[in-house]
Amino acid sequence: MLESYRVLKVMLQENGLELVVEGEAAYFNYFWLRDNCETSWESSTKERTFDILAEPDNLSPNSAHIKGDFLEIIWSDNKHSRYALHWLKRWHLGENHGDLAVRSRKAWYGNHYANMARFDYTEVMGAPNRVADWAEALLDEGIALIQGMPNSEQALQSLCEQFGAVRPSFSGYAFDIFSKAQPENLAYTSKALELHTDLPAEELAPGIQFLHCRVNDAEGGQSLFVDANAVANALQENYPEYFRILTEYEVPFRYTTNHQDVRSKQRIIELDPNNGEVSGVNFSQHLADIFDFPQRDMDLFYPAFRKFGHMLQDPRYLMTFRLNAGECIVFDNQRIAHGRASYLEGSGARHLRGCYVERGELRSTYRVLRAQYPLATDTVAWPQINEPVQAEVGRGAQL
Ligand code: OGA
Ligand code: ZN
Repeated sequence: MLESYRVLKVMLQENGLELVVEGEAAYFNYFWLRDNCETSWESSTKERTFDILAEPDNLSPNSAHIKGDFLEIIWSDNKHSRYALHWLKRWHLGENHGDLAVRSRKAWYGNHYANMARFDYTEVMGAPNRVADWAEALLDEGIALIQGMPNSEQALQSLCEQFGAVRPSFSGYAFDIFSKAQPENLAYTSKALELHTDLPAEELAPGIQFLHCRVNDAEGGQSLFVDANAVANALQENYPEYFRILTEYEVPFRYTTNHQDVRSKQRIIELDPNNGEVSGVNFSQHLADIFDFPQRDMDLFYPAFRKFGHMLQDPRYLMTFRLNAGECIVFDNQRIAHGRASYLEGSGARHLRGCYVERGELRSTYRVLRAQYPLATDTVAWPQINEPVQAEVGRGAQL
């Protein structure tokens, strides 16, 4: 647990109070304090039932003092509030929510196959601590392989549900990839699929993708995966102007069938507004619509787009392997670009079944499970009041 402040003095000011701490001042706003009094939350739902809107504009304490390891406030309506000093310290230091799911991404390269995180189907189905490890691999590396999958439709859904509800797409809850007589998209042929992320034509592209290989007796059809985040970072380092262009232009994507016309505009490289880091990519030549920015801008855009596309294909970054029957590759569709080599029609059957789960579901599951099954390196952080048990565990190891 974080050590408490050694508070020397509490000074009431107009809109907040200052704790004078070991030579430093820590300021807290009155509305914030009142809003976050431990009695503000309903204990079973952990939702706030206190209404800050109903407080007067001039909300202020009658008195505030330190008692043991707590700041105690008596408000002007005689309501008492109490705050653990170590908890206040956390907010003063800007550690904020201490989200376990905020982790550093680990870039990987073309030789990643041997090191790719692997889990056994029966293992993750029966052991929540292994689901936490699996989720962690997806947060950090964006890809993991599940082996020993039963050859059934249900297996994929059961696996997905370890993270949360299956997220439907315009193909429904799940989709089966095999060569069809009347294919409605390229995936349902034996042709190569160039590197892409799935469904950027949707307003919010799917997050975590599962591809369960049910049968793979065909000649060819190797799987291609690339950490597009790592490539985007390399682009930023070596071609900053190209990087800027790909983070700024809004590119139209479109998917049409006889009864669908799905469109959206996406940036090829997305940035996290909190820290400016690359947070995702949208890349699909199959679904890219006719670029509609001014023709002069095409002079700038195409070289950037082509450079990024070529870098994705570079063997330094590109991982190529054969997905075997009984394996399910699980990856972050907003980080990892994927594709396949063509396969020889008639050489044998090839059947993949796929579906998606939102990234938010993965993070939510990870927060709950990692709190229940902490790593030895986890540090304990901010317990406050009615926090659920998992709040006892702080950030995961920043690897
Ligand atoms: C897809 C796809 C991969 C494969 O259908 O979008 O990426 O190996 N398929 O067939
Ligand atoms: Zn795909």
